[in-house]
This record gives sequence, C-alpha cells and structure tokens, in this order.
Amino acid sequence: NETGCLSIIVLGASGDLAKKKTFPALFNLYRQGFLQSNEVHIFGYARTKISDDDLRNRIRGYLTKSADDDEAVSEFLQLVKYVSGSYDTPEGFQALDEAIAKHEICRNTTEGTARRLFYLALPPSVYPPVCRMIKTYCMNKSDLGGWTRIVVEKPFGKDLASSEQLSSEIGSLFDEPQIYRIDHYLGKELVQNLLVLRFANRMFLPLWNRDHIDNVQIVFREDFGTEGRGGYFDEYGIIRDIIQNHLLQVLCLIAMEKPVSLKPEHIRDEKVKVLQSVVPIEDDEVVLGQYEGYTDDPTVPDNSNTPTFATMVLRIHNERWEGVPFIMKAGKAINSRKAEIRIQFKDVPGDIFRSKKQGRNEFVIRLQPSEAMYMKLTVKQPGLEMQCVQSELDLSYTQRYQGVVIPEAYERLILDTIRGDQQHFVRRDELKVAWEIFTPLLHRIDNGEVKSIPYKPGSRGPAEADALLERAGYVQTHGYIWIPPTL
Ligand code: BG6
Repeated sequence: NETGCLSIIVLGASGDLAKKKTFPALFNLYRQGFLQSNEVHIFGYARTKISDDDLRNRIRGYLTKSADDDEAVSEFLQLVKYVSGSYDTPEGFQALDEAIAKHEICRNTTEGTARRLFYLALPPSVYPPVCRMIKTYCMNKSDLGGWTRIVVEKPFGKDLASSEQLSSEIGSLFDEPQIYRIDHYLGKELVQNLLVLRFANRMFLPLWNRDHIDNVQIVFREDFGTEGRGGYFDEYGIIRDIIQNHLLQVLCLIAMEKPVSLKPEHIRDEKVKVLQSVVPIEDDEVVLGQYEGYTDDPTVPDNSNTPTFATMVLRIHNERWEGVPFIMKAGKAINSRKAEIRIQFKDVPGDIFRSKKQGRNEFVIRLQPSEAMYMKLTVKQPGLEMQCVQSELDLSYTQRYQGVVIPEAYERLILDTIRGDQQHFVRRDELKVAWEIFTPLLHRIDNGEVKSIPYKPGSRGPAEADALLERAGYVQTHGYIWIPPTL
C-alpha cells in the first residue's frame, strides 16, 4: 500500500451527489481508519464563494448518524478545505493547485508519494473543461512519484455518439488507468458476491446455462417518483438512468464466462465479450411506462414521452445463453422498493409431482433492501398427506451475519480508487458496447416511435409488462411469498 500525501478533491462540492454520497463515504472511510489524518487532505471545489466553515456546515448534517460520531465528524471536517472557482478558467484551478501543493510541501518530510484524486461530482457537460484544467494546472508534480486519478459518474452521454465524444475528450487528456467510471451498483455487497458465487461453487457450474435456466430477471423497483430531479430525469429516462448501466452491469456478472483470473482486466474483458453478444432489442419485447402525475413537475414538459418504467428482454447470442431471455425491469413510483436478480429454472422433465406443485425452482439474489440469497425449491409439506409446497434455502444477511455492517457502495468504490483497483469500474470499451445495445431503441423512444403507457403511482406498472414477462416464459409461483427473517 502506498503512503504519503493523499489529496482528495471533490469538484461540485455543494451539489447533491457530493453532500449525500461523496462526503459521507469519505467520512466513513476516515472513521474506519482508511484515511489517516497525517496523510489526507480533502478539498471541496465549486463556483460559490463560501468559506471552509460554510462548506463544513453544509455537509455536517449529512455525516452524523449517531451522537457518538460528533467528535469524529469534527475531526474529519478539519481535514476539509474549500476553494472556489469556475469550471473552465485557469484562476480557480491555479488556486486549487496551490492549496494542494501547500499541503504536500508541508508534509514532504514524510516518506512516500503525492497522490491526487479528483472526484467530479458534476454534470458531464463540464467534464471536458474540468479535465482540461486539471491536466493543465493540477497534476501531481511530486518527484517522489505518485499519481493523479479522476473519478466520474454517469450519465456518460445520452447515446453512443455523445458518449464516444465524451470518452475521446477525456481520453485525450487522461489514460484509461487514471479514469474511474463509477457505477455504484458494482459497489453493492451482493453484486460483488456474484463472482464468488458463480465461480467458487461447484454446485452452480453445470446448471448455469440454457440447458437448465429458463429465464433471468434483473429487477429494480422504487416506490417513489423523480422527486425534485424531474428536469434531469426527463432528459434521460429510466433506461439511461438505471438499465443501461446498473442493471446491465449486473447482467454482465450473471452471464459472463469465467475470467482467466481475478485481475481487473481479465474480469472486464469477459464483461465486454458478453455485452458484444447481446442482439438488438426488438420493439415487441419492450414495454414502457410513465407514472401519472410525472409531468406535473414544472421542469418536465407536459407532452413528455420519457419512460419512468421499462420492461424489456435482452437476448444473448452465444453458446451458453441462446434462447434464454434476460428480462430487465426498472420502475419508479411503483408498489415496492427493491432490487433483485431472479434466475428461474426449467420445469422438471417427466415430472411426477406436476399436479401437486406450486412452481419452478428459482434462485433469487436480493440486492437490497434485506440482502439475501434464497433458493426456492419444492419440498414435501410436513404432515400425513403427500403434498408438495414451495419452500426455500435462505441465506439472509441480517441473520447469518449479525452485527456485520455492510459498507455503502460509494465507500468501497472510493477506497478502490485510492488503492488503484479498477475491477469495479466501467472500462471505456465496456461503456461503448453498453451504448451500442441501447442506442437504437433510445432513438426510437426519443422520436416518439415507442410510447410510454401511463400507470398509477404505487401500482405494479403497466399490465402489458406482466404480459411480456409471461410471453418471455416467466412462470409466477402462486401462493408463495418470501418473508425476510426478523431477528
Ligand atoms: C441512481 C439513479 O444512479 O441510482 C437514481 O440516478 C436511483 O434514479 C438510484 O434512485 C438508486 O440507487 P440505490 O443505490 O438506492 O438503488
């Protein structure tokens, strides 16, 4: 592990992402001893002219979870400085460089290198000028070595062309190993578990293919609407906001072949390959929805066709998955909040219990809330009669890992950026293929050729989506519901 000065610069320091995610994640890392106060300085940068204390007061409220944290919060906030400036002129970045260098000089008695991590909690439209400014004025200049890295967050463009444009602008300034494209789903505990689950367990190896798996669902549900983000959301919609990135990353981990090793590049190579095997999405395998009341937001045009709900089938044309639908489903303002992967197995051939059964085998990975994996299987109903019932083998984290705190996705990913591990970040070629998959459909939606069907907030979404699920081959288990265990 490297030692020496570490400067973390949060650009867009007063924005929502910085306040709600970046600073709290940094604080949690600090509290757990991953950021040493004799090595780390944190800088907030934004346009507003405020003082160090003003910034500290703005973020303080997002850091404390319990009263015991008060002291740690105050210590942490002392590490935070503020520099103001615009995003496309030299003055602010020169001032930022001086502020960083001052701290690096005053520490140069310590052994080690100077590391500069720039976290762009900013809209992508300013990524190119900001990257240019960083490259011109703020690179690490230490003779002892070290590095400069940048962290960026979606949306990386709106379609293939705009994303490629952004990638080449950033790519002309920074090399791929310096660029960390965050997809925070890759920082979730159960998403990180997928690789272990698939490749460390003999049990799954023979089953994980088209011979045994009938269909796969990757589902994201939220029981609230766009809430104050209508303006942003309307430009993007649920496919760009959730499916093209978060759910597609999950699909990669479920569907990819075994990587040569655990090296980040080996893993990312396999993700790219499986994405390259996804065939164009057919319009009759897409159902879009928009919740009633979405356009009441004054920042959303009254005639918006932007989907807040989508169910679609992705098909992977390769030896393992030919014929197996991967059903991607995401919705806002629907009846529950959860994210899960549902792998449904085929029927038992020549099933002598068919008439007595409730449903098929399913392996469910609950990403959130109530992290769990459970395997739905048919067992004999206890009692004198020979009756079958659907039950489950259940690995629920709250029960199995009592007292273990599951880290926040951002916490984990920021630690990776400091350690230089790009496994859980999206590589440029991966991003390009992800856009290739969705761009034709997105253009048809933007042109109004595929319409969003209205649905009631708090409902399951348009009924047409359930019909599509059924057409794709999903068989619902009637009369069974998984209940997360309570302690
Ligand atoms: C973000 C989306 O990337 O992920 C939001 O922009 C969404 O619309 C959020 O609400 C969901 O993240 P999580 O971690 O709460 O599932």
